[in-house]
Amino acid sequence: MSLYALFTRNGPSGFGYGSTAEEVTAGLSLAGKTILVTGCNSGLGYEAMRVLTLRGARVVGTARTLDKAQAACARVGGATVPLACELADPASVRACIAAVQAADLRLDAIIANAGIMALPKLEKAYGLELQFFTNHIGHFILVTGLLERLTETGRVVMLSSAAHKMAPKAGIEFDNLGDVKGYSDWKQYGQSKMANLLFAKELARRFAGTRKTANAVHPGVIQTNLGRHMNPMMRFAFGLTEKIALKSVPQGAATEVYVAVHPDAATISGKYFADCNIAKERADANNAELARKLWQVSEDIVAKLP
Ligand SMILES: NC(=O)c1ccc[n+]([C@@H]2O[C@H](COP(=O)([O-])OP(=O)(O)OC[C@H]3O[C@@H](n4cnc5c(N)ncnc54)[C@H](OP(=O)(O)O)[C@@H]3O)[C@@H](O)[C@H]2O)c1
Repeated sequence: MSLYALFTRNGPSGFGYGSTAEEVTAGLSLAGKTILVTGCNSGLGYEAMRVLTLRGARVVGTARTLDKAQAACARVGGATVPLACELADPASVRACIAAVQAADLRLDAIIANAGIMALPKLEKAYGLELQFFTNHIGHFILVTGLLERLTETGRVVMLSSAAHKMAPKAGIEFDNLGDVKGYSDWKQYGQSKMANLLFAKELARRFAGTRKTANAVHPGVIQTNLGRHMNPMMRFAFGLTEKIALKSVPQGAATEVYVAVHPDAATISGKYFADCNIAKERADANNAELARKLWQVSEDIVAKLP
């Protein structure tokens, strides 16, 4: 636990910065629930899967390859269904959707957890900047493809980040998603996380009148493999501050798990959470027109993919 956690108070949910995924699910039985977690082989996704299975849920754990998913699922020991889902490969994402359909799995929650951060140079998939493609487009295909699999009270949890505040001024630069002019590792990561947040907002709008929910979360700042692309100086500084200021992995997984399964979050939709409580997002993340446009543009992009 970091020193910082000792000096923070819990919020209205009763949980806060220092809460862990085990603490936010203490006393809950998730028997009979099925929850899909992307990026189950590492960091927060692995911890979320571990704790959800500990509480009795069956977890559909996805990773870039079936080998990785199987190895991670075997490590947690509980009820799991390992599946491959390479988010930068639409065929892999579609095969994952097909596998969920073929197994007739009904999903109580989808935690869109996988992600990449701060690629030092412009990389692309299908002509689009890779962080935008992986973090947003890959999950857009997956989640929209699985909507009919959600139970009546199904919850969608999108891993955003406080870094959505580093997105460009426009929120999403729709005319600059490919050969990005003025490429910046953090701006492009921020844009992808703004896209995750806007997607949750628009999905919540589409869920209005149902008991399904969609929310976005900032998990905190945690040292995981996510930092592998950061420049070495920044990684070093992260290492130094870990014990003072960063969350541990169990604390980092708490917010996504809380929003996915805690009874108190069952009717909350269209919100941005941090430290297991509703938090304030950048103002334009509440721009419904921007969210609608992102959905439309994403549909157009997906329609043209092989
Ligand atoms: N850690 C933080 O401080 C922090 C802060 C804010 C937000 N977040 C968000 O939290 C989420 C989880 O991050 P983490 O810290 O747990 O990072 P992590 O340990 O690096 O885990 C990321 C997961 O995403 C998977 N992934 C990456 N690219 C993928 C692709 N193309 N297709 C499918 N899966 C892919 C990784 O698979 P491989 O292992 O095979 O690469 C891994 O399983 C991310 O969405 C991140 O943006 C984290």
